[in-house]
Amino acid sequence: MNSKENDRIASASAAKRLDYARFDTSYRASVDAILRNQSTSGAIVASPDFTQYHFCWLRDGSFSAYALDRAGEYEASERYHAWVNDAIGGISGIIDDVIEKMRHGEQLDPSIMPPARFALDGTSVIDDWPNFQIDGYGTWLWSLGQHLVESDQTSLPKAFLSSVACAARYLATFALAPCYDVWEENGSAVHTSTLACVYGGLTTAARLLDDPGLLDSAAVIKTRISKAVRNGVYVKSSENSDVDASELWLLAPFQAVDLGDQTFLETVATIEDRLTVDGGVRRYATDVYFGSGAWPVLTASLGWHAVAIGDLEKAKRCLSWVTAHFNDAGLLGEQYGGERRDAPHYEEWVEKWGHPAKDLTWSYAMYVVLMLAVDQAENERAAFHGVTDVAKGQR
Ligand code: BGC
Repeated sequence: MNSKENDRIASASAAKRLDYARFDTSYRASVDAILRNQSTSGAIVASPDFTQYHFCWLRDGSFSAYALDRAGEYEASERYHAWVNDAIGGISGIIDDVIEKMRHGEQLDPSIMPPARFALDGTSVIDDWPNFQIDGYGTWLWSLGQHLVESDQTSLPKAFLSSVACAARYLATFALAPCYDVWEENGSAVHTSTLACVYGGLTTAARLLDDPGLLDSAAVIKTRISKAVRNGVYVKSSENSDVDASELWLLAPFQAVDLGDQTFLETVATIEDRLTVDGGVRRYATDVYFGSGAWPVLTASLGWHAVAIGDLEKAKRCLSWVTAHFNDAGLLGEQYGGERRDAPHYEEWVEKWGHPAKDLTWSYAMYVVLMLAVDQAENERAAFHGVTDVAKGQR
């Protein structure tokens, strides 16, 4: 960015930030928490209080950057995207190598695949983590596209061309390959929510790169999703006919299904029916991670979906549920209620990794996204009623 562009973004941010006073204090606390959890490198740490999460995941980070943009924190979001740009630049050789191997029909060891998470300095971490998760690359492309729109940048800055093209090539090649899911599990299946993230990424990249070929790849994914139906619902994966709460993202934000898609509405109803605990939303029925409590990320995602279909009452219930889970220090964690729902598994995980994260960045992010989505929908509704009242008065 040149200095003129920097100045423009700084004043646009300032203008949007003035809105803070209109919201609950937990909104400000959440934006501040995301900013506090951003390192000087631009990376956004998944959680500072949970050792296993001292990394930046493309998934968590990209949703968090979107929340920053919605809150008018364009510079912070820009620093995150610049960090991803460099991180992807650093592994472009690995990406092109696996694409080549895939094209030649070679067997690919999941451990050599591009990482799902990076160290905060942008380097890859060599350990036994299930790296092969393609959703984060899709979510990043989508989030970058949103950043440009929110911060009024009309085209993709040149500096991003190569990393965006590289991530898009990677996704177009591996879109339908089995990989680990958004919960970093089940590496031998194709996951419906991963397909949606990839769809969102490819449609964005097609626009940013003006490359209609990527839209063809996206259309193939959409068709694949439309066939991932059993018993009237979109299934969790090619190996699991149940639902998964991450499928909530199929419509908001990735638009991999159409508004009014009855199968999708049935899927959401099934998620609510099977995965709600104490008013919040769990990941999937057989989950055991920390006893499988309800996640702010998913409860806010249900609210985001509700806004998308015009159900503001439900959206506000989801928002209140999340608000009620901030602790006295103003922190929002990963999940709640697992210790009561399934004490043996909760204890098992506590013994292994300590208590669940109490300060989880993408929990704040989804809360901010939901709060602003509700606010926007209410303003639009009020404006619409204002217009119709004026019209009635003129009759
Ligand atoms: C979740 C991932 C998340 C990571 C970091 C894992 O427990 O399953 O979805 O990206 O934590 O927050």
